[in-house]
Amino acid sequence: MDRIRIRGGKPLQGSIPIGGAKNAALPLMAAALLSTDTLTLSNVPHLADIATMAHLLQQHGVDVMMDGGPGSAENRGTAEGRRIHLTAREITSTLAPYDIVRKMRASVLVLGPLLARCGEAEVSLPGGCAIGTRPVDLHIAALRELGAEIEISNGYIKAHARKGLKGAHVRFPMISVGATENLLMAACLAEGTTVLENVAREPEIGDLARCLIGMGADIEGVDSERLVVHGKTSLGGTEHSILPDRIETGTYAAAVAIAGGAVELVGARLDLIEAVTDKLAEAGCDIAATPRGLTIKRNGSRLKGVDFLTQPFPGFPTDMQAQVMSIMTLADGASMITETIFENRFMHVPELARMGANIVVHGTSALVRGVQGLTGAPVMATDLRASVSLVLAGLAAQGETTVNRVYHLDRGYERLEEKLAACGADIERLRN
Ligand code: UD1
Repeated sequence: MDRIRIRGGKPLQGSIPIGGAKNAALPLMAAALLSTDTLTLSNVPHLADIATMAHLLQQHGVDVMMDGGPGSAENRGTAEGRRIHLTAREITSTLAPYDIVRKMRASVLVLGPLLARCGEAEVSLPGGCAIGTRPVDLHIAALRELGAEIEISNGYIKAHARKGLKGAHVRFPMISVGATENLLMAACLAEGTTVLENVAREPEIGDLARCLIGMGADIEGVDSERLVVHGKTSLGGTEHSILPDRIETGTYAAAVAIAGGAVELVGARLDLIEAVTDKLAEAGCDIAATPRGLTIKRNGSRLKGVDFLTQPFPGFPTDMQAQVMSIMTLADGASMITETIFENRFMHVPELARMGANIVVHGTSALVRGVQGLTGAPVMATDLRASVSLVLAGLAAQGETTVNRVYHLDRGYERLEEKLAACGADIERLRN
């Protein structure tokens, strides 16, 4: 298994290209199931999760073609990703098997589109994952309100809507990104009008809605907490460019905050990540929008501890909690970090402690008392964002850090070590 080796202490200088958002690309790919025509997505990041979704769609009968390559010479240093063409002319199977779903929870996003288009779907339950139990009860309850008959047996969600889905008024009891996306896609082909209330407002949902509108869907209230969808009998194809990845943006901003230096994040959009950049500015970083993206700078001085709490968008994203905690381990003073979205998202804490961090966890809060320095160590984590937080800690630690289980990083960060090395970090992938 590959590992990443970092020798800390080098500030970062230069520019880093930001790719298309993984969490937008996955539902957008699933949306191809809603039409017999071709959906072309551009700015698609080159990530393991994208390959997993492509594989899942192929086994439903979707024709998947890719062109361009983020690694190709002409794309280096720009924010351009590759294009992917998805054509679901005929759905040959409505089964999403356990072997694929267990690798990636977002596979459950095929449930709504398959049910809406074919009147049936059988999708493995995703089961638990490292950051918590993460049930799909909200997806199931809401699809039942649209008339689906759903039973859970043998570890599968078995759903039918023999006469098609019917528009309904759904109020989600709690905010869920995935349930909002599943229902939004399903409602596009339901008969009549569906009102979805208390929906998630993550920018990736707005991106999905805009693509669906491009395919011919009738959706009102995009980017608000209430979506109204007037169902259509069919949708067509379209071309859609995926919005930039705000979590990749925030992660590289965090890298500069912890390692020091000045970097331009090319292709980034500051308006998508303000909850994080506001905190980094409060801690002492300089951040500004540029014509190509944004710049982040930290001079030699120490950052100051800041408190934050994870919340649905536009609040501070849970997917940035671990990275900003890494920064806080070296800040002046204390930082109180509260995780309100997932119940078990502090797995990076014991690993950061092994590098010398002073962190005490009380239930859903972590109190971080800044220390003078971290020291390199062999570390590993069982989740994508926790893993990258250890890379960030390694950039600032004295000596050598080896991050194991790199496949987590490859799920969500494209060419991480290359992008950081191009800015002066001493980082390399050790292939096994
Ligand atoms: C998405 C993101 C993930 C991010 C998360 C929260 C994708 C592919 N993944 O995950 O990176 O961390 O949003 O911003 O976009 N819940 C239930 N029942 C349900 C669904 C969710 O109880 O049926 C709970 C979850 O366990 C969690 C909370 O609701 O505690 C939020 O989860 P949700 O917004 O659904 O996250 P995902 O869509 O899985």
